[in-house]
This record gives sequence, C-alpha cells and structure tokens, in this order.
Amino acid sequence: MNGRSQPSAPADGLARSRAITDLATELLPGGVSSSLRVVERPRVFVRARGSRVWDADGREYIDYHAAFGPIILGHADPVVHEAALEVARELDPVGLGATELEVELAARIRRLVPSVEKVLFSNSGSEATFHAIRVARAATGRRLLVKFQGCYHGWHDYVAANVVSTPGRLGSIDPTSAGVLPQALDWLRVLPFNDIEAFEALMAREGEDVAAVILEPVIHTIGCVLPTPEFLGALRRATTATGSVLIFDEVVTGFRHDLGGYQAIAGIRPDLSTFAKAIANGYPIAAVGGRADLMDHFNTRPDGTVLFGGTYNGNPMSVAAALATIDILEAGDGAVHRRLYALGDRMRTGLQSIVDRLGLPARAVNQGSVFVLYFTERDVRSYEDALTSDASWYVAFHRGMTERGFLMLPMNLKRNHLTAAHTEEDVDLTLQAAEDVLAGLAARGGPQDT
Ligand SMILES: Cc1ncc(COP(=O)(O)O)c(C=O)c1O
Repeated sequence: MNGRSQPSAPADGLARSRAITDLATELLPGGVSSSLRVVERPRVFVRARGSRVWDADGREYIDYHAAFGPIILGHADPVVHEAALEVARELDPVGLGATELEVELAARIRRLVPSVEKVLFSNSGSEATFHAIRVARAATGRRLLVKFQGCYHGWHDYVAANVVSTPGRLGSIDPTSAGVLPQALDWLRVLPFNDIEAFEALMAREGEDVAAVILEPVIHTIGCVLPTPEFLGALRRATTATGSVLIFDEVVTGFRHDLGGYQAIAGIRPDLSTFAKAIANGYPIAAVGGRADLMDHFNTRPDGTVLFGGTYNGNPMSVAAALATIDILEAGDGAVHRRLYALGDRMRTGLQSIVDRLGLPARAVNQGSVFVLYFTERDVRSYEDALTSDASWYVAFHRGMTERGFLMLPMNLKRNHLTAAHTEEDVDLTLQAAEDVLAGLAARGGPQDT
C-alpha cells in the first residue's frame, strides 16, 4: 500500500462485514465493545496503515475517524510499533517498583507541560479524570464538581452527565447512563461553556464548596468549540480565588494540538491535567499530572491517602510507544505539528469554500488537525450553537462520504482527525468527494429527498 492510492468507491457488497457483525451481535451486546462504535451499516475493519483502513470486504477508506483520536502519526506507525515490540521482547508488567521507561516518560511530560510537576500513569482517559477529580476532592475537603454542557470526561459516575443533551434537558442534570449513583450527580453543577457570567455567578454563590472545575479546553466531543481567552482567564481567576482545583481534560487536545497541550496555546496553567489518546498513537496509556502538592496526596506515596491503583498502569509497551510517539512529535522542532496544522487549515478552507460556492448554510471549523463541518449558519461557541447543526444534512453527507471511501465519525457534531500520514492529495481527494456529495444534496433540495 503506497498510501497514495485512490480510495475505492464501494457499492454495498458488505457480505463479510455483515456476517461478522451478525456473529458479533450474538456474543457482544449490540455487537461492539464501546457504545459509539455502532454504525448504520455493518463495517468490520481488518487492516489499518497510515491514513488508510480496509474493511473485511476489501474496501479501502481514507480514515478521519482515527479511533476517536489516538492515531496522530497514522495507523500502525512502524517506529512506534517497533519501539513497543522491542521493549515487549525484554520486559512485560512485573508489578513492583517503577521502570526506567516510566521515569523517562514522566520527565519528558514534565519538561513539555509546564503545569505538570508530578505525574502518574493509568490506562484510559476515564481513569485519569476519575483520579484527578477524586484527588481534588480529597485535597480540598470539598464535594462540588463543576463541568460544562457538551464536555465528555469518560464513563464514570462523577462525570456521566450532560454530554449530548436534548434541548429539553438543557439546564438540568442529564445523566448519560442508567445506574449512575444519584448522589454522585447531587454534587455536580453543569454550566454553559464560554459563559463567564454564569460561571462567575455560580462561583460567587458556591465557590467555597467547589472542589474542582473540569473542562475540555476545546470541546471536541461536540466537534470543535473553542474557548474564548476571557472565559479561560475567568476560570483561572475564580478557581484561584476560591481555592478550587482547575482541571484541564486534555485527553483529546494533549499532544495533538501542541506538545504542551492546549494549555500551552492558551497560556493558562491548570492545577491538574489529564492526557491520553495522542500521547501513544493508539497504545493504551493515560496520565494525570499537575501541582506536586496535589499529586502528593496519592497513596503511591507512603503517607498519601488517595487510592491510586491499576495492574496495567505504566505497562512497558505503552510507555515505550508513548516515548516513541513523543520523539517523533518533537523531531524537527515540531515539524509534525506544523504539517498537521497546515493540513487542517487546507481541509477547513477547502470545505468552507465548497459550502460557500453551493450557498449552503454550513461552517467548517478546525483546531489544527481536528476539523468538523457544522450544518448551521451560526458561529459555534456553545452547546446551544452546536445543536443548531442540521443532523439530517450531516447524516446524508456522512453516508455519501462513506460510500465514496472516506471514513468520518458517524454522528452529527462529532469531530474528524487528520494524522501525519495524511497527504495534501488525501485532503484534495476528500474535498472533491465532499463537493460531489454536497452538490448532489443541494441539487436535490436537501437530504429529505435522498
Ligand atoms: C475529553 C475526553 N476525556 C476523557 C475521555 C475518556 O477517555 P477513555 O475513552 O480513554 O476512557 C474521552 C474519550 O473520548 C475524551 O474525549
């Protein structure tokens, strides 16, 4: 595979994918291992390299899904795989002490992310946000947690609310799951993103009881909602004034937008941060890090009181993959990031000029390598703005792109990811297909007639 071939343009012909999905559905509830993996038509993938993936029926796609974000260098990066395998040949989890590699990774993160004085490793973003919130509650002796509508921080009870809420549920606590302990949500407050007034009013009322404020610094769960600098400044000021812990959940943004996280771009120093996904190009590893006085509450220290456990934490293969990924991201004075930003801008400007030419009410938005096409006339600065994006247009656009061999996230409002393996030619092929799909939809008067 030379990474430059034209993606195939599938008709249905998904016989093998269908057969595997039927069997999967008998054995795994819904046929998948994570809820957002359900797709409209069965697609089973058997190979992934660079910017491409192949399904069980032999179709090739240019991939912008990127497994929800970890893939930053491209699928199956040979250098990352080799680094992980080389370590695996010598060492697997032993369960005592620290490995030299863990120490090296911790030192690397501390050098790259100035707010991180100490760091601990776990396996997933959900674990990392759980630990960050728990240690914030322990250190402050308070219970309240503030999050923002539209932000996702994982599946655990502390944060399982108000991610994708219907308009009728806005303004109230909206659990994302049955079985969440109601008492956990009693201690949650949910606010609109970028709304300084609402935030300052809450902090004036309850700030002394707020243990932590957590946010995705760019809400990529609903596409690409950028924070205003004033909003981030207000969060920092008010949390400092009340002694609350400011947590940047950089599980998507960290290492993808900058080696120092989005916090480096914004010039804000949070108290704690969580990282995962792009740190290791697909290997399972996450990190929680920040102020030493907070991190020292974890009982990885003899006098620490906040439980931190995990059989697979710091597993050597993932740590080696993270080090190799960071090596590549650091090489050439940030050449990979410069390239990702250039590709992202090419995609955004290309998409915007297509919808402008066709007279469609749509906004292309990106932050570096993450891009989204919202089918709305509004600038998207909040969850309410994002909700105005027309889902029927997105679904029809997505279907047309998949049929032409371009894999994007199958839900309205979800983001897409470029990787260092994508080429300008990939982007141009994508833009041609997008123009074809959108022009077809526009000619038919919109998705209702497709
Ligand atoms: C911002 C953010 N935080 C936390 C998580 C949870 O990470 P994980 O799926 O690794 O548990 C995600 C996952 O998509 C995320 O996007």
